[in-house]
Amino acid sequence: MSSELAKSQISSTIVDSIENLKGTHQGFRRAHARGFVYEAVFTPNGAAAPFTTAPHLQGEPVRATVRFSHTDANPHAADNDHAVRGFATKFHLADGTNTDLVMVSVERFVAATPEDFVEFIKAAKADTDAQDPSVPHIKSFVGAHPTVGPALVAAKTITVPVSYGTTQYWAIHAFLWRDASGAVRPVRYSWIPEAGIADASDSASWTPHHLTEELRDRLPVSFVLRVQFGEPGDPTHDSTVAWPADRRTVDVGRIEITKEAPDQEHWQAQVFDPTALVDGIEPSDDPVLAARSTIYAVSFDRRSHQR
Ligand code: HEM
Repeated sequence: MSSELAKSQISSTIVDSIENLKGTHQGFRRAHARGFVYEAVFTPNGAAAPFTTAPHLQGEPVRATVRFSHTDANPHAADNDHAVRGFATKFHLADGTNTDLVMVSVERFVAATPEDFVEFIKAAKADTDAQDPSVPHIKSFVGAHPTVGPALVAAKTITVPVSYGTTQYWAIHAFLWRDASGAVRPVRYSWIPEAGIADASDSASWTPHHLTEELRDRLPVSFVLRVQFGEPGDPTHDSTVAWPADRRTVDVGRIEITKEAPDQEHWQAQVFDPTALVDGIEPSDDPVLAARSTIYAVSFDRRSHQR
């Protein structure tokens, strides 16, 4: 079987298994179903220029579109859920093309491969169906894949943020930066909120769309783009494992999110694809990263056809 065919088959299997666990919400993304889209400007500070030729990381400000989202497949999930949030960015480059950077409010993923992710969703489904709070199937998944333990603990203990603008986000996967001489370095990205990180102490009275309403009042909000450089031996293929915290980090620019996009429907109908890259940035050898484009295409196809 060709690797493209294998990728397309596992991508359909994955989206089927998400639908099986979460149900189907016609016309919506199969994950991160509810989101809101904003206009933004990213201003690089020049610190990335020695390490990557990527045009939006040199010196000139670049327009961007941002989508903040709730991770659930249910578009009616409430904003006071203890849930992962998404922060997807499309940078609009001077030559008319785009490049995407997709982040979430946790640092690690729950599966090292697409196949493991199918197993993980099956385990979650078995525990949900059995209504067993001791989650025996998830425990046995962790037993077989011990590196996912910290990611699951982080997801289970995640707090409710005061605002989309007071949360840190990570792109989770490693990417490779290529400089003008051709040298390649592994990096991991994070958005650091300039307003500081703050958790909501009392979200019980929130409306279901509180975080969107809160951001409407708070705008503009800004984040610093922080890049962590990997060292030899740091894994680039396994997004269940974070790199040691003492790795060198460099702040390479700042995004200011200024206002709600007037054309919400247009942007809701787009895909934010973590492998839509530019010269100077390449995907790592992480098999989950490699699979995401096809998975998102399957989700896009289904939601575009009102399935
Ligand atoms: C096997 C792994 C994964 C699966 C099956 C998966 C599945 C999905 C699906 C089906 C969508 C909706 C796509 C669309 O219709 O446009 C989506 C969106 C999204 N995913 Fe993933 N995902 C995976 C890994 C990740 C990882 C590692 C991250 C961490 C950064 C992530 C962050 C997001 C975000 C932020 C969105 C919303 C993007 C937007 O606003 O359009 N996903 N994911």
